[in-house]
Amino acid sequence: MATLTQLNPQGRLRHLITLEGLGKELITGLMDAAERYLTRPGTLPARDDSLKGRTVANLFFEPSTRTRASFELAAKRLSADVINLDVDMSSRAKGESILDTIYTLEAMQADVFVLRDSEPGIPAYIAEHVRPHVSVLNAGEAHLSHPTQGLLDALTIRQRFRDFTQLRVAIVGDIEHSRVARSAITVLRTLKVGAIHLIGPEEFMPSSIEFPGLQQFPDLEAGMRDAHVVMALRIQRERIVKGTGSLGQGEYFRRFGLTVERLRLAHPDAIVMHPGPMNRNVEISDDVADGQRSVIRQQVTNGVAVRMAVLSAIAESMGATTPAARG
Ligand code: CP
Repeated sequence: MATLTQLNPQGRLRHLITLEGLGKELITGLMDAAERYLTRPGTLPARDDSLKGRTVANLFFEPSTRTRASFELAAKRLSADVINLDVDMSSRAKGESILDTIYTLEAMQADVFVLRDSEPGIPAYIAEHVRPHVSVLNAGEAHLSHPTQGLLDALTIRQRFRDFTQLRVAIVGDIEHSRVARSAITVLRTLKVGAIHLIGPEEFMPSSIEFPGLQQFPDLEAGMRDAHVVMALRIQRERIVKGTGSLGQGEYFRRFGLTVERLRLAHPDAIVMHPGPMNRNVEISDDVADGQRSVIRQQVTNGVAVRMAVLSAIAESMGATTPAARG
């Protein structure tokens, strides 16, 4: 999907399908807006009426805890009406096409569709078919893209390190099947990060053609030396083609698991990230996941704020179309 079609004629964000092609200014603006939605722990969450009168439909055709719950909370905290379609109980399970499902909810005046699907291309396809006032947000597209995850990861890094150009980021694990890694790489490149190291076994490494200029490491110790950010990834069993993914869990942990001992090789101020859900003691040890360097729960908190910022930006692009006057 061409980037321009994510923006409305006034240059405002209408759909969020991919971070590819979104400029530094727009991405930084979304992170700034997300920061304004963060409140101190123990205080009430931020709320406003950005989406009052609007309806947000969450359609998750793949499992999710964090993304789905945070989109729901974000929409409710912006005063939207929210539908969470129970996919197994929906008519798609009876053979209805996804487009007919969308048209059905559009007929009930849904304004925003939040979509997760295992098939590449679905968010862009839906965006091409919705009515002019309707927006589509990608909540995870196959192995390709998870734009709000990329934004929340960038925000979490920025909260600790202001200058991206000085940072070394180590991404560890199943990069080949990871939409989280792809969106992180996109946003970090846009923010002109100093270096990105891709670390993992050969079977989880993407083709070097996909990410020219990024160094690949089959050895965790070499790849994460002096890294400021260490991002572990989930092994995406659901996307691994039969016959690959031969590394057993014990062997994987021995070679690529994040442990306290290994983290001593990273920069003294290094932070540890994981998008979740975690396979503890396979991708990351308990004491690292729950340790002082871990910002994993901060990523989750930032997820709600980032989704509020994105929904609020979408609401601005709808500005001229009041719920009572849409065509
Ligand atoms: N990080 C992430 O997308 O988590 P969920 O699958 O729980 O939404």
